[in-house]
Amino acid sequence: MKQVQAVTLCWVLLLVSRLGARDGFPEEASFYYGTFPPGFSWGVGSSAYQTEGAWDQDGKGPSIWDAFTHSGKGKVLGDETADTACDGYYKVQEDIALLREMNVSHYRFSLSWPRLLPTGIRAEQVNKKGIRFYSDLIDALLKSNITPIVTLYHWDLPQLLQVKYGGWQNVSMTSYFSDYADLCFEAFGDRVKHWITFSDPRAMVEKGYETGRHAPGLKLHGTGMYKAAHHIIKAHAQAWHSYRKKWRNKQQGLVGISLNCDWGEPVDINNPKDVEAAERYLQFCLGWFANPIYAGDYPEVMKDHIGRKSEEQGLDMSRLPEFSLQEKSYIKGTSDFLGLGHFTTRYITERNYPSRQGPSYQNDRDLIELIDPNWPDLGSNWLYSVPWGFRRLLNFAQTQYGDPPIYVTENGASQKEHCTQLCDEWRIQYLKGYINEMLKAIKDGANIKGYTSWSLLDKFEWEKGYTDRYGFYYVEFNVRNKPRYPKASVQYYKKIITANGFPNPREVESWHLEALETCSINNQLLAAEPLLSHMHMVSEIVVPTVCTLCTLIAALLLMLLLRSQS
Ligand SMILES: *[C@@H]1O[C@H](CO)[C@@H](O)[C@H](O)[C@H]1NC(C)=O
Ligand SMILES: *[C@@H]1O[C@H](CO)[C@@H](O)[C@H](O)[C@H]1NC(C)=O
Repeated sequence: MKQVQAVTLCWVLLLVSRLGARDGFPEEASFYYGTFPPGFSWGVGSSAYQTEGAWDQDGKGPSIWDAFTHSGKGKVLGDETADTACDGYYKVQEDIALLREMNVSHYRFSLSWPRLLPTGIRAEQVNKKGIRFYSDLIDALLKSNITPIVTLYHWDLPQLLQVKYGGWQNVSMTSYFSDYADLCFEAFGDRVKHWITFSDPRAMVEKGYETGRHAPGLKLHGTGMYKAAHHIIKAHAQAWHSYRKKWRNKQQGLVGISLNCDWGEPVDINNPKDVEAAERYLQFCLGWFANPIYAGDYPEVMKDHIGRKSEEQGLDMSRLPEFSLQEKSYIKGTSDFLGLGHFTTRYITERNYPSRQGPSYQNDRDLIELIDPNWPDLGSNWLYSVPWGFRRLLNFAQTQYGDPPIYVTENGASQKEHCTQLCDEWRIQYLKGYINEMLKAIKDGANIKGYTSWSLLDKFEWEKGYTDRYGFYYVEFNVRNKPRYPKASVQYYKKIITANGFPNPREVESWHLEALETCSINNQLLAAEPLLSHMHMVSEIVVPTVCTLCTLIAALLLMLLLRSQS
């Protein structure tokens, strides 16, 4: 550990000295005033497990995340679960009112597979109440003129598929997933025209099957995640083909995937080794999933590196599975749009000292990730605000994958821990900077159709519990009915949406001031919340208790009175 820190420190110092020698980026420093193309879609996002709660209600089966969070201490910060989360299952109307307040054109949310299919398998059991719940949600959104963008899989695999068959380690997940997808197309496809098969599968397999920090908590170093990803890519392709064959003619919708990736910038752009390392960073992150889907196979650099290391490790086959020729052509071209999630940037340099660990994803990439100590840091310990990286990633995706239609499916910033400030100045800066870089990418030629800010509410943040707050709306989790309070960024984002961009300096400056004015009033309301909930407690617990006691005492007195008289 010490050694790693020393090495990292060395690199940071080196980084600072090398960066100092660089020219500035003039186009990045300047703000671009202008508007987005007409019809550009603005939205916010969320996911089922992080917000719904009602984990065992109305026929829902358990997911791997229910099992993971219930399985004992130390899995999640504060041993939290999402058993109730934001109570989103019971607050559909209230949350749609929040979406209307923001004036969004779309809402991205995910369906809980085990809420629809309690055992995971369509042939076994379909939960009608689950269908009803999402059907009503979709209707309510459409009634408010909000387009639903629906994710099929945001990490909550039905637990029975994990226990019985090994989850994504088993290739049979592809057909269970495809059957599930087909049910969703059938039940909701008359109204849903934008489908996302998988959300951020890279993080899902890395944390679920390599480091074990996410459900299902497996540590199959250097093998499990490649296998899980292999099956996920096949499952995605199968669902896409099923839509094309059975539903596309009738429903006229789009099916894509959502891939998250940070930008990787070479530490020294004049050093070919650093440039290669940064390229490798992107291919191991975005290319891993996007290359099979857009070009029919894993990136060459992944095949080379993992193949060579597997050989060195004495294996007779690469740890990276291979697609057959037939599979390659089946998978190629199976995305109607590219969903991109993006949060931050890293400087990348080659790792030129040998690693002593065994097989692992980290080891396979041969690179070191660094941060610039001058970047503003946000709530999550990995998240720094580096807006210019966003434009570069969007341009990279445009040129790598043949100018696909792009939907930004996630981008946002979390609040520093335990901070109950609704005046989230720093989120406003993040939003403004990142959305502006996206506008520049559109001017560069990227075909970006929409933007989803992450996320509508503060919510269960996986292994971080409730400590990282990504929401536009603050959720008071300690109060029984989980009230929501708007942060200042709500007003600011609404202004961007309504103006469809950044019209001119004077106006944009006034948004900032207005947003910060409203939040101080809301801060006072939030501060009064403990008092209010205390008053609830008085009326709900203390009053009945006192009444019961009074009745008992009265009865006792009456008895004594009767006795003394007789
Ligand atoms: C994979 O799933 C199938 C059921 O679809 C099961 O029969 C098989 O035993 C599973 N394989 C493993 C290794 O668990
Ligand atoms: C919502 O945004 C649209 C532009 O997308 C704008 O025309 C409309 O006036 C806005 N509505 C409100 C209530 O701000």
